[in-house]
Amino acid sequence: MTDDIPRGEHLTGGNMSRVVRFADRVHRAAGAWTPTVHRLLRHLHDRGVPGVPYPVGLDADGREIVTYVPGTVPQDPMPDWVWTDAVLTAAGRRLATLHDATLDLDRHDSHWQSPSHQPAEVVCHNDFAPYNLVFDDDHALTGVIDWDTASPGPRVWDLAYLAYRLVPLAHPANPDLPDNGLADRRRRLALLCHAYGHGLTPGAVAAVGVDRLHEMAEFTARRAAAGAVHVAGHVRLYRTDAEWLAAHLAALG
Ligand SMILES: Nc1ncnc2c1ncn2[C@@H]1O[C@H](COP(=O)(O)OP(=O)(O)O)[C@@H](O)[C@H]1O
Ligand SMILES: [Mg+2]
Repeated sequence: MTDDIPRGEHLTGGNMSRVVRFADRVHRAAGAWTPTVHRLLRHLHDRGVPGVPYPVGLDADGREIVTYVPGTVPQDPMPDWVWTDAVLTAAGRRLATLHDATLDLDRHDSHWQSPSHQPAEVVCHNDFAPYNLVFDDDHALTGVIDWDTASPGPRVWDLAYLAYRLVPLAHPANPDLPDNGLADRRRRLALLCHAYGHGLTPGAVAAVGVDRLHEMAEFTARRAAAGAVHVAGHVRLYRTDAEWLAAHLAALG
């Protein structure tokens, strides 16, 4: 009989790690960066940032345990409501709130999974996009999950990735992102920058987006070479998006 062994619900959506949910807790693969990420998550809680998983510790298999953030995490194909201006501005504001709350994080003896980027003015989430955001039944943004690739960096690094995923700033033929036209993209990028604040401009965000996408392509190529064959096709996608964005900087800024 194995019925007394709790069987977790396998959560799908991400393509990075196996995630298992037991009631109000989530168990995920851990690594050398986990103590630093848990320090970050505790710090965000201490600063009163809502909707962030709370770090509970490690399980007997060495996986990290964090609290489950209730709500809906949208996945591809994204539902239409993800593309509303309300979601765009809420995401921009929440990213600024999170960044501000990391300003006084104790970064001594920290070990991050992802490389840091200069100037390391805040701690970046590094994957702040709809598929890591939690929403309630009214589609209000309630939470942000999947923190294990966070690392120090400039505010614009995270905002550029969010803009790529949510304005969006991809080649119009990208199958995962809508082709809403250049004029709407220019308008939404300005709206996102305004929601985020801190003087970040559309031109700066779009320009960093090009670098960000090239780094994504290189990172993904290394993962594919290391055996993650299911991500191999994303390399060309990121490069195509980077080239499209580089060619449209003037039109977007
Ligand atoms: N703390 C959490 N609260 C709620 N849902 C979660 C949480 N962690 C993971 N999930 C769910 O599991 C899925 C995959 O987890 P995620 O942490 O995003 O891992 P990956 O690195 O694979 O993207 C998410 O899309 C979400 O649906
Ligand atoms: Mg994820």
